[in-house]
Amino acid sequence: MNNLIPRLCIPLLPLAFLALPAGCYYDNEEDLYGGAGGCDTTSVRYSGEVQNILQNQCYSCHAVSSNVAGSPFDTYATLKPYAEDGTLLSRINTPGPGQMPPTGLMNACDRQKIEAWVKAGALDN
Ligand code: HEC
Repeated sequence: MNNLIPRLCIPLLPLAFLALPAGCYYDNEEDLYGGAGGCDTTSVRYSGEVQNILQNQCYSCHAVSSNVAGSPFDTYATLKPYAEDGTLLSRINTPGPGQMPPTGLMNACDRQKIEAWVKAGALDN
């Protein structure tokens, strides 16, 4: 009877070790790369992704030439204050009245890229 316990447990041990690394790897991937969708936020630049996203989804109202909103930010100098005081991130991340764009939030990856750029210091890069 005493011999029964080791004989049952030893064959099951490798299963426990197989399950653990798979779970940990998935968690790390989500933290590092911002989700299972494969959104790359590692080298977001103002002159690259940030301007691209804003041009496509914001400048129709927020450029000097359009100026529907009365708050143009189509240059680095005019965008920077909104990045630094938190207005930019709260407008793009908070659904409801005041959300930007007004028609509905941008997709998660675009928002994560803007956020990564702001959190890295909102540099003119
Ligand atoms: C259809 C026009 C339109 C689009 C597109 C649009 N906005 Fe706006 N936005 C407005 C208007 C109008 C206001 C002023 C009313 C208000 O504060 O909600 C505003 C206000 C803002 C403000 C606050 C400005 C201030 O002086 O406090 C920010 C920041 C902002 N928008 C960011 C964005 C961003 C970022 C995008 C693109 C992701 C965007 N908006 C797209 C019309 C637009």
